[in-house]
Amino acid sequence: MTDSTSNIDYKNLGFNYVKTKCFVMYKWSDGKWDLGKLYDDTNINIHIMSGIFHYGQSLFEGLKAFRSKNDDILVCNSNASAERMQFGCHRILIPEVSTKMFNNAIDKTLLNNLEFFPPYDSEGCMYIRPFIFASGVKLGLGPSTEFTFIVLVNPVGKYYNRKIKCKVIENYDRSAPLGVGNIKMGGNYAADMLPSIESKKGGYDIALYLDAKEHRYIEEFSTSNFVAIDKDGCYVTPKSNSILKGNTNSLLRMLAKDRGIKVKVREIDFNEIKTFQEICACGTAVVLSPIKSITRGNETYDVPEFNILKSLKNDLLQIQKGDKKDKYNIIRCLPTTSVI
Ligand SMILES: Cc1ncc(COP(=O)(O)O)c(C=O)c1O
Repeated sequence: MTDSTSNIDYKNLGFNYVKTKCFVMYKWSDGKWDLGKLYDDTNINIHIMSGIFHYGQSLFEGLKAFRSKNDDILVCNSNASAERMQFGCHRILIPEVSTKMFNNAIDKTLLNNLEFFPPYDSEGCMYIRPFIFASGVKLGLGPSTEFTFIVLVNPVGKYYNRKIKCKVIENYDRSAPLGVGNIKMGGNYAADMLPSIESKKGGYDIALYLDAKEHRYIEEFSTSNFVAIDKDGCYVTPKSNSILKGNTNSLLRMLAKDRGIKVKVREIDFNEIKTFQEICACGTAVVLSPIKSITRGNETYDVPEFNILKSLKNDLLQIQKGDKKDKYNIIRCLPTTSVI
């Protein structure tokens, strides 16, 4: 943990908390959001009867911004993050943050923390963490009277530094078929901690969940989507209502189509994995991280390649850094001279 830019080794950042200069916080009460303010003290005052503590009413997002060669700040796919948070708000009765307010909050936080922004040539970038929770006082179960929306930023590097070993989770489910696995709700991640820690103790880096009903179809990893290249060279990723709609996965599917790769979003029977040439964990934090092996019970499948998905990863990284044309309009460019 640091709050001094001089201590940051931008070449070896990893994915750890770094205290930056400030964050932005907005409050909702009486039916509307206030105008939001910047704060530098990272301890905030919350009532002990807030809905977040007792009923887990909270959502978060994760997205990234990059420094371009000519020093602009490039925010990647923030509209998609705003929309996903709005979808979650609807499900767990939190007042929506408009896309405009979401983007303004991000821009304000980024531009006021420029001194913590990893340089263009560092392989690092700025991770953006918007989150929203019930901060109103209520004893009985019901929607809160006050909500808080915060955006903080944190310089990051690589999530994984090696190919990863994966374990299939058998004794727990991540989400029910009609549950809340398709929203980025805090509680989903609490439920995953024990299964993930147990698999880490067994020497695995990442946990893979199957569908809760039959334990037959692949769903997703703890904090990322499952993507693969099948025996016909197609990009495949699971179709399920109980997984998170990954924004990285959506972008990669567009990039795959552009390279003439057929994309299939469909149910994936676990038994099929032996026919997959390439398998990756896919998400904002992990980008596309190659899976080395997948173990279920006593059987391990070694994934042979990382070629097609590697080229898609490079395409994405180049767009994110402004080195390749963004024909999908996913990047918002903030000149560092902007004042907010
Ligand atoms: C459960 C889960 N699935 C998938 C993803 C990937 O989503 P995205 O690409 O939008 O980061 C995440 C990322 O946070 C996640 O937590």
